[in-house]
Amino acid sequence: MITKRRGLNTPPPIVVGNWKMHKTAAESVLTARRLARLLRSVRGVKVVIAPSFTALEPVGRVLKGSRVGLGAQNVHWEEEGGFTGEVSPRQIWSAGVRTVLVGHSERRRFSGETDDLVNRKVIGALRHRLVPILCVGETLNERRSDRTAEVIRGQLAKGLMGVSREDGRRLIIGYEPVWAIGGGHVATAMQIAEAHDEIDKGLVEIFGPALAGEIPILYGGSVTSRNIAELASVKRLNGVLVGGASLDTAEFAAIARGLAKGKQEG
Ligand code: PGA
Repeated sequence: MITKRRGLNTPPPIVVGNWKMHKTAAESVLTARRLARLLRSVRGVKVVIAPSFTALEPVGRVLKGSRVGLGAQNVHWEEEGGFTGEVSPRQIWSAGVRTVLVGHSERRRFSGETDDLVNRKVIGALRHRLVPILCVGETLNERRSDRTAEVIRGQLAKGLMGVSREDGRRLIIGYEPVWAIGGGHVATAMQIAEAHDEIDKGLVEIFGPALAGEIPILYGGSVTSRNIAELASVKRLNGVLVGGASLDTAEFAAIARGLAKGKQEG
């Protein structure tokens, strides 16, 4: 396990709620309003929620002035043009989005996103001042055949091709083992520590040690309020990505509180 290279000014841990293809715009607004209220007094953690595209504008309005930031689940790389069905960085920015998931395994798997497309999206997002969360992670087969490190390092290197050191400062990496997503089968602290260590090494190779140490690495896959304390104990875990458990406001707020508490104690 690697030690933190951070000093006294360690930025707060990050918790991102990925609502996936859930909730109408009206339901999203209600949930966001409730969440903003619940998190009013929570300190020591940065919270972002990523609703569906149809809900971004109204949820953005609800979150204005709150402690909760707005994220998107996907983005195209071009600013505008003949790309039927796509949504551009400029469009999501104008809805209030500042953070965007890129290369989530569900998009790689169900929407055919290759490392090359993921790379274009990372670059496109950065060009438009957005913070991309580049998601990487191995399947169960890849883990069983001992290819976890190779897969993670490959996705990282390809996803970050051509990203300047300057832009690297705005990156976030999400480690999401495919086998842990949605199934209630959370990775162990040891498995996460090893994977984050691997990602850290990859980032050092790409950006050098000083900058690499500043790039947050989040874990995602069956995170709940029951396992957040253990996850928070992993030193190089700088936050979490929450799917299913983020749909329930009380549960998501408990995760945010648990992460803040765990990191303060750790
Ligand atoms: P999950 O999803 O929390 O439902 O496992 C995580 C994710 O896909 O980001």
